[in-house]
Amino acid sequence: MPTSHQIAVSATGLRKSYGDKTVLDGIDLRIPAGSVFALLGPNGAGKTTVVKILSTLVSAGGGQAHVAGHDIAADPQAVRSAIGVTGQFSAVDGLITGEENMLLMADLHHLPKPEGRRIAADLLERFDLSEAAKKPASTYSGGMKRRLDIAMTLVGNPRIIFLDEPTTGLDPRSRHTMWQIIRELVADGVTVFLTTQYLEEADELADRVAVLNDGKIAAEGTPEELKRRVPGGHVRLRFTDPAAYHRAATALNEATRDDEALALQIPSAGSQRELRSLLDWLDSAGVEADELTVHTPDLDDVFFALTGGPATVPHQPKENVR
Ligand SMILES: Nc1ncnc2c1ncn2[C@@H]1O[C@H](COP(=O)(O)OP(=O)(O)OP(=O)(O)O)[C@@H](O)[C@H]1O
Ligand SMILES: [Mg+2]
Repeated sequence: MPTSHQIAVSATGLRKSYGDKTVLDGIDLRIPAGSVFALLGPNGAGKTTVVKILSTLVSAGGGQAHVAGHDIAADPQAVRSAIGVTGQFSAVDGLITGEENMLLMADLHHLPKPEGRRIAADLLERFDLSEAAKKPASTYSGGMKRRLDIAMTLVGNPRIIFLDEPTTGLDPRSRHTMWQIIRELVADGVTVFLTTQYLEEADELADRVAVLNDGKIAAEGTPEELKRRVPGGHVRLRFTDPAAYHRAATALNEATRDDEALALQIPSAGSQRELRSLLDWLDSAGVEADELTVHTPDLDDVFFALTGGPATVPHQPKENVR
């Protein structure tokens, strides 16, 4: 019995250890139906482990979760029939054709033959694979295999799909195609749980984002909310004339200097009002930069700030820290 038809995935205190290594140390999730949720995290953070637990491929070491209203531990069969999973590594069988891969999935879903054929043909068409359908999948490019992988996941018409790094290794065009496919699924009311290494992807697609680090959710929110939580917004002034640069650096003694690039960075959220007063101030200080750029924090800043990566102090070149 669904606990709530509005929440597609909920989890409290999910835990998982392999041997004495704790991978997940209490994960809470709440994903509304019909939304896109992106789970981010560095390699080895446990993203795939979360997907495997929620899709009942491995059991949790503790905590509780409901997927499509079904308890993953008590009723894994009901969970499995409500979801589709595209793993991080392809489920495509290269020895048979794309079409045969699709028909195999239709059989696994116990679809009557004619219906299986119809659904397979529709999906192959939708994923732009009709032409290649009769060729062995081993001859497909990486992007084609990935599309076939997701098409196979959709054979059972799942209302919740898990996509573990759906666009890793795809070129920009294939990535945009995949984003379009995901958007269409969501427009049909499907809930999408995706993991990604591409922060731009989370920004493009996700209603909510969670960053997994050290076995815990380090932060969760809309991409905009997360960006607001990290510093990093600034205006960058670049000079070509070293003398002008040094004059400006003396006048703007609060700016962060980048002597090598002849650039100054002034913290700013980038609003129109702030920019106007900054420009007025530069005018009155007689500073004339050759280039002015506004930088707002992006999800990269958030990611690095939360996972202790290289840009813990965003945009501050090391040589300027004295
Ligand atoms: N079957 C297993 N046995 C032992 N350790 C495992 C097993 N599966 C995963 N791990 C460990 O759990 C941790 C998390 O792995 P997981 O695959 O969930 O990370 P991930 O966030 O998906 O990483 P990636 O970005 O590289 O895909 C890693 O340290 C990994 O070595
Ligand atoms: Mg993974």
